[in-house]
Amino acid sequence: MTGSVTVRVPAKVNVQLAVGGPRSDGYHDLANVFLAVGLHDEVTVRPADELRVTCAGPDAAQVPLDHSNLAARAALALAARYGRDANVHIHIDKDIPVAGGMAGGSADGAGALLACDALWGTGASREELLGICAELGSDVPFSLVGGAALGRGRGELLTPLPVGGAFHWVFAVADGGLSTPAVYAECDRLRGAADIPAPEASAALLDALRAGDAEALAAAVSNDLQDAAVSLRPSLAATLEAGRGAGALAAMVSGSGPTTAFLVPDAAGARKVADALQSSGTCRAVRVAAGPVPGATVLS
Ligand code: C5P
Repeated sequence: MTGSVTVRVPAKVNVQLAVGGPRSDGYHDLANVFLAVGLHDEVTVRPADELRVTCAGPDAAQVPLDHSNLAARAALALAARYGRDANVHIHIDKDIPVAGGMAGGSADGAGALLACDALWGTGASREELLGICAELGSDVPFSLVGGAALGRGRGELLTPLPVGGAFHWVFAVADGGLSTPAVYAECDRLRGAADIPAPEASAALLDALRAGDAEALAAAVSNDLQDAAVSLRPSLAATLEAGRGAGALAAMVSGSGPTTAFLVPDAAGARKVADALQSSGTCRAVRVAAGPVPGATVLS
């Protein structure tokens, strides 16, 4: 097959991340409420002599181009499923900050999977694609689905959620990353021997999403990994404080961090908080986005 396929795929923020105790397989059961936001990568695949990955964008130098990249792993997984070679050139136009906590790598995995599926005309069902996403990583199915969803299990078992309006966010991008396994391990360490209840989605949070009510959502957001992320990266406390001081309705670590997320009332509020964060000197970059937005979408 000739030609190319381009897929657009969004970043996410976790508005609730409730983490259970460690499971015997090393993962943690979650109640993980995802919201897709309007920062996107574009993943283009075209036939090539061998599988290779290239990347362009401000953070491109930090993106691995070998087969550890989730986009390459997605192509290999789909090819193996359909007994074919994975000889494609995958190009990632990266606009999602490379810092952790916004599922940029997961987005590229879901994007490459959907793009290869379209290029090769496999006829895979949505369930099959979601199954491959879940094998690639806990956050990858949500990148395919987008919108808003509750993730159970390790985050891969998704139930779509109704959302009654747009929510406006500012994201502060930290210097360097944080290892996701290290943040979960730090969460376990900080909890010590405490009995951890099974994670449950907050009814107040689901109501706030359904109503499109930013103030109610701000009162309900939570992230059980936040203390662990701040423990490993104490400088995040100053970033959170800078956003709060500038009038953010809520300030939180996004996922396992180190990106921090600030819920604001509207686009004007976003500009004010973004300016304050930019001049605070507590982060590497600042981005503004609203959500929900659709998941991975074939553009051409
Ligand atoms: O699934 P994914 O590869 O994104 O997970 C990366 C790491 O994050 C896992 O190896 C595990 O240490 C941690 N994790 C977890 N519980 C989850 C999701 C991820 O402990 N539900």
